[in-house]
Amino acid sequence: MSSKKIDQINKKTMQKSIGHYSWKDALTPAEIAAIRHVEDAQGKPILDLGVGAGRTAVPLREISDEYIGIDYVHEMVEECSRKFPELRFEHGDARDLSQFEDNSFYLIMFSMNGISMVDHHDRIKILKEVHRILMPGGSFLFSTYNQDSDEYKKLLVLPEFDFSWNPLRLFVRSIRYGSNLVKSGLNRCRFKKYEIHTPEYSMVNDVCHNYATLLYYISQENQIKQLASAGFDGESVAAFDLSGEKIKDGTKDGSIFYVVKKGTEESVESRCWNTAALAESMPGTG
Ligand SMILES: C[S@@+](CC[C@H](N)C(=O)[O-])C[C@H]1O[C@@H](n2cnc3c(N)ncnc32)[C@H](O)[C@@H]1O
Repeated sequence: MSSKKIDQINKKTMQKSIGHYSWKDALTPAEIAAIRHVEDAQGKPILDLGVGAGRTAVPLREISDEYIGIDYVHEMVEECSRKFPELRFEHGDARDLSQFEDNSFYLIMFSMNGISMVDHHDRIKILKEVHRILMPGGSFLFSTYNQDSDEYKKLLVLPEFDFSWNPLRLFVRSIRYGSNLVKSGLNRCRFKKYEIHTPEYSMVNDVCHNYATLLYYISQENQIKQLASAGFDGESVAAFDLSGEKIKDGTKDGSIFYVVKKGTEESVESRCWNTAALAESMPGTG
């Protein structure tokens, strides 16, 4: 399936989801842990990728005045500018960040699995662009769906019914539930055929937004390899589960929050030197 088709499906869903993201305002435990993990970001330039309706704008702005939020959906950018007129928001696509020079930001965040909305090829483009515009020593914080999760293995998930003893509320909720069930069924019939499953990653017609999305799932092991191929050093990756705990032996949580640091010149040099020294010390390589 072409990346154009995925964009068409996911962007259309995002255009209709401003309200869905507007009511959310607190950071998640994983986001709090990830932000705490980054040292010395105070006062340094921050880029909020896929800013949505601006949930992360205020907490990131508290770290630095040099804040920019971008989103590829115009309506999201307009909503952010309306809510926070004092902050800077621009329309932009994470796959092409050519409006920003190399080494421009110390902290770049792509929260709530936003990076999972593009296909494999475009995801690599995003990682390379982020690496290019990060300052040496700066960090990229992002969450992404976990291919080792129970959610990934479930074939079909029914929306949860929110029961109430209040008859009027129960009536309204029943109507809403029925309508969501119909929407989910119709979307599933339309979009399931676009799923992609490979050992490295999958694009799944996910339960999110009543099955009106195609979302990227990847295991922790493959995510670390993918980051390395985009230029990030595997040793500097930290991963957090949904409760904000650092992951040591894998997790079955639906989503993982990663913090990955761009190497400084010295750290890259010393890594090359160590690798060369190790190679020389190995029998038969001298
Ligand atoms: C799941 S929402 C999260 C919104 C917000 N970051 C939050 O945490 O509340 C993902 C957002 O990423 C945006 N997005 C997805 N792919 C993008 C891309 N390639 N470039 C810029 N924004 C993108 C979507 O439009 C959407 O607003």
